[in-house]
Amino acid sequence: HGSMGEVWDEEMSSSMLGSRLRKVVQNYQAMNKYGVENTGPGGVASRPKLSGPELLCHLKSQVQVLTLTPDLQPFASLSWASQLPDKAVTSELGPYKSCAVVSSAGSLRNSGLGKEIDSHDAVLRFNAAPTSGYEKDVGSKTTIRLINSQVMASDDHRFLSSSLYSEGALVGWDPAPFSANLSQWYNRTDYPIFAQYQRYRRLHPLQPFYILHPRFEWQLWQQIQDNMAEPIQKNPPSSGLLGTVLMMSLCEVVHVYEFLPSRRKTELCHYYQRFYDAACTLGAYHPLLYEKNLVKRINQGTDRDIFTYGRVTLPGFSTLNC
Ligand code: C5P
Repeated sequence: HGSMGEVWDEEMSSSMLGSRLRKVVQNYQAMNKYGVENTGPGGVASRPKLSGPELLCHLKSQVQVLTLTPDLQPFASLSWASQLPDKAVTSELGPYKSCAVVSSAGSLRNSGLGKEIDSHDAVLRFNAAPTSGYEKDVGSKTTIRLINSQVMASDDHRFLSSSLYSEGALVGWDPAPFSANLSQWYNRTDYPIFAQYQRYRRLHPLQPFYILHPRFEWQLWQQIQDNMAEPIQKNPPSSGLLGTVLMMSLCEVVHVYEFLPSRRKTELCHYYQRFYDAACTLGAYHPLLYEKNLVKRINQGTDRDIFTYGRVTLPGFSTLNC
């Protein structure tokens, strides 16, 4: 005992990064690809720091998990609108009692967390993260897979044909300009998400497949910025935080694995690839550092859970008395 090392410090700032990563983050903080406006001076100057429970209530009231439905313009006027699910994801999936969110971090390797992860009522995974061959560490159950538009569009992930994507429901997302309406976004997505969506739906018509409303991404981004003392990257939150908040709106309790790194913390980017880069854990394009500060603040589990299991415990929004 007494050997518990450091876990994620919720006051992490870009000044604590190595010089290479610090420059990359500072470049993204200065760049504004999506035309983010009116970000304000940041949390410290504008209001006192919120406690974890206060922050949870802010998230519940300020962030709405929305998905595209056929009634929304411009989709309502397009012939393929009927391929979109009739209802939003939050009225069709769940509610679940317990949920696991499995980050794809390299620190899941040799974690032995597979059984624990599979014991949840629903399991969320990300992008091209496999279970086959990694069951002992990440489990085998997939209830929802959250995929970004880069994965949806790229040929080498074989998105249309790979069995990797065939289990559970899919939820896709693509960054929209900050102030764009759906029509403006439709005409300038980062990747061709809608063409791929239509192809995938034709090939796999029975699998539920939702697309996040970009308003959700920017509402969540705003909450991160409002609660940080420095300007964050003006890019949407990572899939990891989007999926965590998605599950908080579907589940009574959410366990997030290796988003806040355990004692197995490593520069190995993903548990399923031999590629090393600290940016995967600390962020470059995404405001991942600040996402982790926020998750640390709302964690209801212990530091030992983080250290030993890489496990964070979050309440579902439905259980909060705000
Ligand atoms: O890389 P990818 O986006 O597919 O990983 C899924 C999510 O897991 C990321 O968006 C990020 O939130 C989280 N992650 C992490 N640390 C890593 C790798 C992924 O926190 N080393």
